[in-house]
Amino acid sequence: MTLPSNPTPDARHSGLVAVVTGASRGIGAGLATHFASRGFRLGLCARSVPEVPVGADVVAEAVDVTDPVAIDSFAAAVVARFGRIDLWVNNAGLLEPIGPLADADPTDLQRHVAVNVLGVVHGSATFARHVRSRPGVGSLVNMSSGAATSASRGWAVYCASKAAVEMATEVIGLEERDAGLLAFAVTPGVVDTDMQALIRATPVESFPDVARFHRIHEAGAFATADWVAHSILECCVDPLSRLEPEDGRGAVHFRVPDPVARP
Ligand SMILES: NC(=O)c1ccc[n+]([C@@H]2O[C@H](COP(=O)([O-])OP(=O)(O)OC[C@H]3O[C@@H](n4cnc5c(N)ncnc54)[C@H](OP(=O)(O)O)[C@@H]3O)[C@@H](O)[C@H]2O)c1
Repeated sequence: MTLPSNPTPDARHSGLVAVVTGASRGIGAGLATHFASRGFRLGLCARSVPEVPVGADVVAEAVDVTDPVAIDSFAAAVVARFGRIDLWVNNAGLLEPIGPLADADPTDLQRHVAVNVLGVVHGSATFARHVRSRPGVGSLVNMSSGAATSASRGWAVYCASKAAVEMATEVIGLEERDAGLLAFAVTPGVVDTDMQALIRATPVESFPDVARFHRIHEAGAFATADWVAHSILECCVDPLSRLEPEDGRGAVHFRVPDPVARP
């Protein structure tokens, strides 16, 4: 895939409506900026109110994704403003607690599952109900991770939560396909966000694979949120290029290709 150097609003996306959770920083903020540059109108949320990309038409609210009622009322506000939602990205997520599972605080584990699993499930359900209520297709993108399929010591609950995201996406894709829902579990690659800074700051005793992330940082071998956004539009939204689930599957599961060689 080639990333256009200067994305401009185009007929394929102009006027479409995208919701991004966890849009206050990191990948979510980058998705918002890119989608706005391509002509999307936006619904953006996080626990802190996301900044509005310059010139964009946006509903921005503080929403904790662990609260299904808040997600429903946020979706209703976006639909009241723009009439419909075409793309919903469940991006909000966290990595902590990091360290051996046997040493984890049960409250931290519950919080993690509430955000990374239930937050994605609530957002997916809200969007599925919206897609049922109006004609046409809608793209659901749930942010996954290589951790869904690759075990790392220190990341037990993160690996488990991302595996759950993959399977929840698969099932809702099977359930809602006939209603027009297109389901995607997307692994973004390594993007240099607060989450990556947290990984690099973790002692090797808590996360034995930390050296790999230091090497990526030293080599500057990151994907960008802009690249992830471009890939989502190409693979999940654009009718001319979007991917289809394999026969009998409910969702497309894909990893954004690395734009640069990894050490
Ligand atoms: N960065 C990577 O290399 C990488 C790799 C693989 C997968 N991912 C996945 O990509 C997604 C984004 O990662 P990131 O690196 O951009 O993370 P990040 O920099 O830590 O940002 C996380 C975002 O989620 C929001 N958030 C956290 N808890 C929330 C809650 N309860 N309700 C609503 N919003 C909440 C945060 O905003 P507030 O604090 O304002 O709520 C923030 O906007 C995550 O799902 C992550 O697992 C990232």
